[in-house]
Amino acid sequence: MQEKYHIVTYGCQMNVHESEKIAGILRRVGYEQASTIEEADIIVFNTCCIRENAENHAFGNIGALKKMKKQNPRLIIAVGGCMTQEKGKTEILKNKFPFIDIMFGALNFEDLETLIARKKQEKKRVIEILEEARGIVEDVEPYRTSYPNAWVNITYGCNNFCSYCIVPYVRGRERSRKPEYILSEVRSLVEQGYKEITLLGQNVNSYGADGSTGMTFAELLDAVASIEGKFRVRFMTSHPKDFNEDVVKVMEKHRKICRLVHLPVQSGSNEILREMNRRYTREKYLGEIKMLRSRLPEAEATTDIIVGFPGETEEDYLQTEALVKEVDFASAFTFVYSPRQGTRAAKMENQIPESVQKDRIMRLVELVNSLTRKKSETYLGKTVEILCEDYDEKKGLYLGRDEFGRMGYFKSETDKIGEFVHLKITKANGISLYGEIVE
Ligand code: 5AD
Ligand code: SF4
Repeated sequence: MQEKYHIVTYGCQMNVHESEKIAGILRRVGYEQASTIEEADIIVFNTCCIRENAENHAFGNIGALKKMKKQNPRLIIAVGGCMTQEKGKTEILKNKFPFIDIMFGALNFEDLETLIARKKQEKKRVIEILEEARGIVEDVEPYRTSYPNAWVNITYGCNNFCSYCIVPYVRGRERSRKPEYILSEVRSLVEQGYKEITLLGQNVNSYGADGSTGMTFAELLDAVASIEGKFRVRFMTSHPKDFNEDVVKVMEKHRKICRLVHLPVQSGSNEILREMNRRYTREKYLGEIKMLRSRLPEAEATTDIIVGFPGETEEDYLQTEALVKEVDFASAFTFVYSPRQGTRAAKMENQIPESVQKDRIMRLVELVNSLTRKKSETYLGKTVEILCEDYDEKKGLYLGRDEFGRMGYFKSETDKIGEFVHLKITKANGISLYGEIVE
């Protein structure tokens, strides 16, 4: 009988896509996907370390497997991703969970194939974690599970060293993929019928900044959107220090590119932005939003915000609130600052008490939700184009997203997954829209 795999993923879209590559490797080795975790012969944890709660989550889930491993000693447990790449974490994981069979790093997930072979041969635990990234590995075929959406990496790693962030330490220096690989991957995805392509990088705007690709991000985006066919193009994440008019001009040129920019602001206070080492000001950020909307009046922005960064005063926090209102974001991911070992901010003296952090995050979430709800209401009676992604069994409705990422539900007698449909919106419920198909 064919052996089966189960992958548990934590963290961001990058990790979700990396798990598709891990699945590709496991299938190459001969495993097939298990329908439940209990059925699996190998369980792979693709971990995240960006905030403490992501780590605690993984610790809890790995710990819970002790019993399963006892019942089935042949089960292989592999742990990889950002956490194993963190200084000192491998030791902690090793000691805390002696039943882990394989450990690999975020910089060498492609080694999983040989590590499994070694584990099967040697029987003892195998650990292989690289200190520094190798070149970009191009021979891993991802096993994609989110049709009609597909993610395509354009850069790996990050050079920005925002003072709170661990990513540059665990993902290494920024590397850009060669345009020919990216373009041939997108062409092939479009030929296979994928309808939404998202270009991924920690800071897409610095694509090719080291001169290794002969192309800027704007030029790459232009080339991707010039590929024939009906599909959408998205990109994330943009960094306000590098976001520029050239990119917006390319958006203007191609209707295929969604009029949505994910532009993390992190804070509305110049003081805090400086301490965060973000290298832009509140004024520069607002100027970029203005430039975007002057060229594309319908454009929306989404963002990431951290509250409770060391030294953040009530005044600083209120500046974040004011900026959120001024920009009127389509949505925002909001986080409580989490100190990460080895980062500059973790050593800062003026850490904020938890009670203050909690109070600020609650107020911010309330503000963001109220803006999102208000935006939803403006959809009533309008017709929007939705890319159908899935069927919700519980609701008995199909669902998809408009170009701004807003979820729309609708009824259909025929399978619509992978199709663009026009929905007349009849109901707005919080962040979700409900509508009827119109031709
Ligand atoms: N604490 C809280 N949020 C963080 N992020 C990154 N590092 C931290 C941290 N230490 C957030 C930022 C980033 C998003 C991916 O995660 O907002 O944009
Ligand atoms: Fe972290 Fe800043 Fe790099 Fe984003 S740009 S991954 S927040 S260091």
